[in-house]
Amino acid sequence: MIASMINELRDIRLHSGLKRILIDEETLQRRISELGRDIGEFYGDRHPLLIGVLTGGFIFMADLARAMAVPLRVDFMAVSSYGNASSTSGVVRILKDLDCTVEDRHILIVEDIIDSGLTLSYLVDVLRRRKPADIRIVALLKKVRATTVVVEADWVGFEIPDEFVVGYGLDFAGKYRNLPFVAICAPDLSDDA
Ligand code: PRP
Repeated sequence: MIASMINELRDIRLHSGLKRILIDEETLQRRISELGRDIGEFYGDRHPLLIGVLTGGFIFMADLARAMAVPLRVDFMAVSSYGNASSTSGVVRILKDLDCTVEDRHILIVEDIIDSGLTLSYLVDVLRRRKPADIRIVALLKKVRATTVVVEADWVGFEIPDEFVVGYGLDFAGKYRNLPFVAICAPDLSDDA
């Protein structure tokens, strides 16, 4: 009884400020399993280095890595392009660099969402100069609207409308990252959402 009341309260707090679920948990997990299988088959006996783009990509990275049945390594980069706003500032900078070297390695950049494309084009540019064997990109979500910078992902989980989405790693002002689904934010978000 008390446990269910606590869960209900938790749900209300987590869902406050959301408009509707765009991709539910089951659909997400099914697609990520497919991506993991396809990408694993692509690499075969080459061992990729997965580079997760923090912070939003951390949940996708964890699920994708477990869905890939090949030996692999992981590392993370953190870049900033949005701050707390809900639109792209056009500025990208490195907040956290890789711990390992990438020279001659097969890099797979693991990104949660391609919106303007600025983050990925910047990352590809930075990493290419470090002379990896090759660079591939997987993005869980890609907005259907034309990106500001053209970036071709090798694998995309879902093409989505041009809405502000949260959940499954994606945030609004630090909130909603732990939702197991992707949802569209309500336009009238308030600080206590
Ligand atoms: C978001 C998202 C992507 C990037 C995509 O990150 O996680 O990394 O923006 O946008 P773009 O294609 O317009 O560059 P954000 O900078 O919000 O940081 P976060 O992951 O720490 O929330």
